[in-house]
Amino acid sequence: MSTVAITGGTVLSPSGAVAADVLVDGERIAALASPGSDAARSWAAAADRALDAAGQYVLPGGIDVHTHMEMPFGGTSSADTFETGTRAAAWGGTTTIIDFAVQSRGTSLLATLDKWHAKADGNCAVDYGFHMIISDVNDGTLKEMETCIGAGVNSFKMFMAYPGVFYATDGEILRAMQRAAETGAMIMMHAENGIAIDELVAQALAEGRTGPVQHGLTRPPELEAEATQRAITLARVTGAPLYIVHLSAAQALDAVTAARDTGQNVFAETCPQYLYLSLEDLARPGFEGAKYVASPPLRPREHQGSLWRGLRTGDLSVVSTDHCPFCFSGQKELGRGDFSKIPNGMPGVEHRMDLLHQGVAAGELTLARWVEVACTTPARMFGLYPRKGIIAPGSDADIVIYDPRASQTLSARTHHMNVDYSAYEGMPISGQVRTVLSRGQVVIDGGEYHGRTGHGRFLRRELSSYLS
Ligand code: URP
Ligand code: ZN
Ligand code: ZN
Repeated sequence: MSTVAITGGTVLSPSGAVAADVLVDGERIAALASPGSDAARSWAAAADRALDAAGQYVLPGGIDVHTHMEMPFGGTSSADTFETGTRAAAWGGTTTIIDFAVQSRGTSLLATLDKWHAKADGNCAVDYGFHMIISDVNDGTLKEMETCIGAGVNSFKMFMAYPGVFYATDGEILRAMQRAAETGAMIMMHAENGIAIDELVAQALAEGRTGPVQHGLTRPPELEAEATQRAITLARVTGAPLYIVHLSAAQALDAVTAARDTGQNVFAETCPQYLYLSLEDLARPGFEGAKYVASPPLRPREHQGSLWRGLRTGDLSVVSTDHCPFCFSGQKELGRGDFSKIPNGMPGVEHRMDLLHQGVAAGELTLARWVEVACTTPARMFGLYPRKGIIAPGSDADIVIYDPRASQTLSARTHHMNVDYSAYEGMPISGQVRTVLSRGQVVIDGGEYHGRTGHGRFLRRELSSYLS
């Protein structure tokens, strides 16, 4: 077991910033000490490796609770494998992902979980967990939820969108929520009114409106807000905790805020694409807008201010990426001439920490809130805290050394995700990851990858800290 001393840095947590040296012993954080103290000096002298973090932030490894590696969708599969996607995550300072096992109709939850374990096992560069997507609600599935919980998969995503694929009726959602209320599981909701959206999509295509911008125009914010409110109502009736995924619209956030103000256990995440990109990107000339097709769609720019505010007030608890990359060439192109055939999803797992630090640089978030929405709350929300999400004795040594004074430009030429475009091509960023440790192993340092495929372990998660 080797020891690492990280000296001279500023350690960040949701309670602020402190000057502290960090001692890592094997896979865990052993201690923190005041810089220059006797303890700090003796560790630095005795450690197998010393990392000088002077002028740098030292923060917990990022936790991205919403990714889709090698996910089957729209007749194709997302372009990052667990291997390439977790490696890209490490490059960007994310040391834990929670991905989604996807139940297809007629398949059991347990067979689904086995299938996703087989995809990820031995292939991940950083630690990972699973949520379960329920597409087929029946007596068997509802019983299996409990077995999944025992196996460390205690959050279940359901869809009010995509009729005929993932869509669940209100009755099915109600039944799953009743099981969640009984077991302490979290229901995660893709809240868009898919039935109404499908009508708007059919009308657009019939009228010859076939380009990528129609994806945004046929999924208006009101249909996200309506579904969000309906999910909240069903959760209130059943007593289930509810986590709204990839919230994009100001009106949907209003519904979440109102529910939280009554004390209901309703939580929500947003994603960097909704904070930085907009409907204007979907409307780029030619077929370029296809790069920005994800659901819910990018919104008019006015929504962004509400989302940043929601992150500051706490009504938005988490920022995840919804990383679901499809190459422009050969994958997004499936929807040339029919926007409804463009596979839904965007790349982002590598850039979440940087894009949020850019929010700090722009005065939208404090340093403490950066760490809270990207590391600590995700860990608490999904049963990983205090093992992950904090720099404290006993926690896993998932640590990022971040240089706030560096500058970089995001580009497909330099990113590590297995996708042929960047949604943020040419965007300047203040700050850059310098060193990343995953359970005590240096996996990124000085612009080089030192990680190992298979280092990442499956995380059997506890129930959410917010519910106990
Ligand atoms: O467009 C998206 N978001 N693709 C991934 C699947 C989902 O709904 O999260
Ligand atoms: Zn979704
Ligand atoms: Zn998703």
